[in-house]
Amino acid sequence: MKIDIVTLFPEMALAPLDDSIIRRARDTGLVEVTGHQLRDWSEDKWRRVDDTPCGGGQGMLLKPEPVFAAVEELRAPLTRVLLMTPQGRPFSQALARELATASHLLILCGHYEGVDHRVVEALVDDEISIGDYVLTNGAIAAAVVCDAVIRLLPGVLGDERSAAEESFSDPQRLEAPAYTRPIEFRGMRVPEVLVSGHHENIRRWKEQAALDRTRANRPDLFCEL
Ligand code: ADE
Repeated sequence: MKIDIVTLFPEMALAPLDDSIIRRARDTGLVEVTGHQLRDWSEDKWRRVDDTPCGGGQGMLLKPEPVFAAVEELRAPLTRVLLMTPQGRPFSQALARELATASHLLILCGHYEGVDHRVVEALVDDEISIGDYVLTNGAIAAAVVCDAVIRLLPGVLGDERSAAEESFSDPQRLEAPAYTRPIEFRGMRVPEVLVSGHHENIRRWKEQAALDRTRANRPDLFCEL
């Protein structure tokens, strides 16, 4: 897979992708991630990329010209163009799985109050939000999407099972709590069943614990179909 990120802050978008599992995936050629400075496509000598909104309103918007120039230079026929924005559709494990099937992602990062809407109308396949809160810019959101997508690419996770078994592989259910040694720590014991060696009881305990945790932390998941 190839991923291009166009942003005013390429270092911010790339820093979280520079370590650990994602770094290894990049080093072994499973994914190629490139950050691009949007100002490189600015046409004015001050490298400006923003302007005030038509009809008035708060703050500044990204101008269309540099964004169109960047996309037209970087996209190929099979490219999926994403815009990171709090106005987008909610990012989810299901969407990460869908994006992981693309051969090329081109991720545009919003800044200021947003982007001239002609960008969305003419260039963008998906507007994506990583949650109902507003970040200072889309670079952090782009890194979140990249991390979630890259770890799903074949060969990226050492143990292929771990991606299949975790929370949100079953979108209706969180994972059960997990424990490791020591069996007793500061007076708190690992649930006896987990050290019993009785596989059927362990399976049942995990199923119930997963339900309890989902009810406590994400009751909304029971309402969704
Ligand atoms: N840019 C600012 N906030 C964002 C969010 N919640 N999701 C995606 N992009 C953003």
